[in-house]
Amino acid sequence: MRRKFVAGNWKMNKAADAAVALIEAIKPLVAGLTADRDVVVCPPFTSLSAARTALAGSGIGLGAQNLHWEPAGAYTGEISADMLLTSGCTHVILGHSERRQYFGETDETVNRKLNAALKAGLAPIVCVGETRQEREAGRIEAVVLGQISGSLQGLSPAQAALVTVAYEPVWAIGTGLTATAAQAEEVHALIRGRLAALFGAEVASAMRIQYGGSVKADNAAELFGQANIDGGLIGGAALDAASFAAIVKAAG
Ligand code: 13P
Repeated sequence: MRRKFVAGNWKMNKAADAAVALIEAIKPLVAGLTADRDVVVCPPFTSLSAARTALAGSGIGLGAQNLHWEPAGAYTGEISADMLLTSGCTHVILGHSERRQYFGETDETVNRKLNAALKAGLAPIVCVGETRQEREAGRIEAVVLGQISGSLQGLSPAQAALVTVAYEPVWAIGTGLTATAAQAEEVHALIRGRLAALFGAEVASAMRIQYGGSVKADNAAELFGQANIDGGLIGGAALDAASFAAIVKAAG
């Protein structure tokens, strides 16, 4: 039985004071729910330390939104996996479509980052998903499974078991256009099939696959009720305590 996993990707929102205020508002609303599901918030880098203090003892994990694959060195503007660990992170989002689209992230760089995260002991959330044009051209399977194979290339089954995949169709992100539960489940099942081919059926059946893209309080329960949907990666609705808590509740 896979434990449900809901993570909030705050993107470039919530400087330290606002991050703490949001966490303080979320905590009482999800208290008690973290016993049987995983809940993580992913604020921007500069809010991580303050967020760590605010989250202490809450049962809510802390994640970052990116890292650099090198452990240290002359990489102006970058942040290493160890820096995230010492800032209190347990998780890191890798290969989000916004990073692929705007910042040149590729399966190869995601793969390097994934190895760095695993080496440091961070739990990675690896994002994949097709654009609207790719969907309309009938290329969902080729694109998404290609991203899975490329991003997770070379991992051992034991390493893969530590990875969460987030299926986020690009056309559903921030648009209010959620994939229907059936559309999402179809792709999640394909992803699990590819994970089984790469890492074996046992590992694949234990790996969690989140859905992301306009998840809201009113569509979360149906999405999370699908056989291969193990929770969500939440953008806009994670910036509102009541909405985020309602989505966490829906993962029961
Ligand atoms: P929205 O929930 O705002 O569509 O964003 C989804 C997302 O990109 C999470 O990583």
